[in-house]
Amino acid sequence: MVRKKIVVLSGAGVSAESGIPTFRDSNGLWEGHDVMDVASPEGWRRNPELVLDFYNQRRKNALSVHPNQGHSTLADLEEHFDVIIITQNVDNLHERAGSTNVIHLHGELFKSRSTLDHRLIYDISGWELNIGDKCEKGAQLRPHIVWFGEMVPMMELAVKEVTTADIFVVVGTSLQVYPAAGLIDYVSRNVPVYIIDPNMPEVAPRTNLSLIEAPGSVGLKQVAEELAAKYLP
Ligand code: OAD
Repeated sequence: MVRKKIVVLSGAGVSAESGIPTFRDSNGLWEGHDVMDVASPEGWRRNPELVLDFYNQRRKNALSVHPNQGHSTLADLEEHFDVIIITQNVDNLHERAGSTNVIHLHGELFKSRSTLDHRLIYDISGWELNIGDKCEKGAQLRPHIVWFGEMVPMMELAVKEVTTADIFVVVGTSLQVYPAAGLIDYVSRNVPVYIIDPNMPEVAPRTNLSLIEAPGSVGLKQVAEELAAKYLP
């Protein structure tokens, strides 16, 4: 039997049950900061110490939490399906749960990048990135995060994966941030689309659309059971 390809678009909601707060449930403030102060090139130019400290705290927090049932259900799907996860999350909880094909649209918390040459990307071990931490060419390192107003380099690859999906699953995203939110428009007609969210975002009607109003852990389990019943012998 030919393995079906499941493409998943995940957002902050999938990590909420691990204890990482979502963005839009916190009034546009991230840990008390204006988003543009800590997640924009202008913010970085104004106050790099503040930006580094902000991401250091988020890294520290990410190290203290664990993948939840939702992440594990997605990882387990790989046993019978080809699974590609396109995540807007910068944490590494999908990987820690065992998912092997993860595309990070908005960058990765545990990587740094040269401010001189964007191709120089490094792993961060531990939680700190500081002023004075430099790339091999001697330039300051910054978080490897896509900030507001910056290009989304992984978008092209994400679109390619979405156009070849047999099944598309959206979980835990308010679908308010583009270009990520536009990925659903690349899903082929008649491909089953499942959207899981306890607070359902607005989506255009389409055929084969299933809206599952539930937390990620519950909704993903339901979808996994449906897919097993439908596609596995
Ligand atoms: P949001 O905070 O905008 O949306 C989180 C979604 O998760 C909402 O629709 C919630 O209803 C839902 N949610 C809450 N608890 C949940 C649970 N237990 N299970 C499932 N869903 C739950 O987060 P994103 O859509 O991921 O960008 O935000 C997109 C981007 O906006 C982020 O990647 C970030 C931010 O600006 C960057 O950092 C570049």
